[in-house]
Amino acid sequence: MNILGIETSCDDTAAAVIQNGTTIRSNVVASQKEMHKKYGGIIPEISSREHFLNFLPVVNEALDIAGITYHDLDGIAVTNGPGLAGALLVGVNSAKGLAMSWDKPLIGINHLEGHIYSAWLENNDFSKTHGFPMVCLIASGGHTDLVLMKDHLVYETIGRTVDDAAGEAFDKAARVLGLGFPGGPEIQRVSEGAAGDEHLPRAWMRDTLDFSFSGIKTALLHMAQDRGIYPSSEDVVDRQRIVRELAAAFQESIVDVVSAKLIEMAAKYKVKGLILGGGVTANARLREEIVARSPLPVIIPPPILCTDNGAMIASCGFFHLQRGQYSSLDLDVNPALSL
Ligand code: KG4
Ligand code: ZN
Repeated sequence: MNILGIETSCDDTAAAVIQNGTTIRSNVVASQKEMHKKYGGIIPEISSREHFLNFLPVVNEALDIAGITYHDLDGIAVTNGPGLAGALLVGVNSAKGLAMSWDKPLIGINHLEGHIYSAWLENNDFSKTHGFPMVCLIASGGHTDLVLMKDHLVYETIGRTVDDAAGEAFDKAARVLGLGFPGGPEIQRVSEGAAGDEHLPRAWMRDTLDFSFSGIKTALLHMAQDRGIYPSSEDVVDRQRIVRELAAAFQESIVDVVSAKLIEMAAKYKVKGLILGGGVTANARLREEIVARSPLPVIIPPPILCTDNGAMIASCGFFHLQRGQYSSLDLDVNPALSL
């Protein structure tokens, strides 16, 4: 069974062909990050326009690389929320057009559910786990959720951020430190080789599995002001070292709290394994720390499948279609869709 997966909820126009929910036949991502870089964040209007321009070339490339035509498709899965309204609209309406003209079932997918299904894609050995329940960490630019996955497509969100998402915090911290966009990969890059001279507080929010990341962002801002690197000034002696140490301190603060709460939840709910998904779980320190602390198997997609992609949407679409679940052609977008 071949599913075409389409993802346009944020700043990546992505399409992929996945066979039987697990085998990647193609996975094409047209990133708009260069377009948004000069603004230091995503501009929704630019995002919608770029999706519009990239949609058909990306879909055609995904079919070409997979070596199939639309005749060989069994369904079209598309993200219909959560995300930027205009960006979602381009993907959903274009996917509807394809579903109608190619006469294929349309499957609307929740982007968060998609991130979970990256775990089912190639190179992930589910024989290491013993089935459900699993605990999923979804950490992205818009979400930091701890989800109990009771079975395929059955979820309960147990913990969530009460303010900024982890990815959003990384992006804002990078701006304070004068680093590029997106901030997560930049903070990871400059942190390498840090001596660990700086320390930032942990936002533990005791007795809850919820998160809060806005306080630590403010703490970083105050520290950057104190060290003279914010507002940006090139004549601070040792600027590069200070940025490296502050970036590392910020990364460690997030990694410590996120991994601790994930492991705490896994024990509390007696799960059989852990799943990581979302752009922030591409972070090398986070991955390393979770594996080191977890007594249970951890399914970690390769970094390219942690950030937004069409493969995860297609995989999730396969599991829905297998259960006879698909959408009608009046499928709408829902920018605030929850799990
Ligand atoms: O899942 P994703 O690609 O898009 C959303 O659904 O939001 O996540 C994007 C977020 C951005 O905030 C980006 O800074 C963060 O993921 N990110 C990272 C890393 N790579 C991407 N954060 C920390 N370390 C990384 N290596
Ligand atoms: Zn995402």
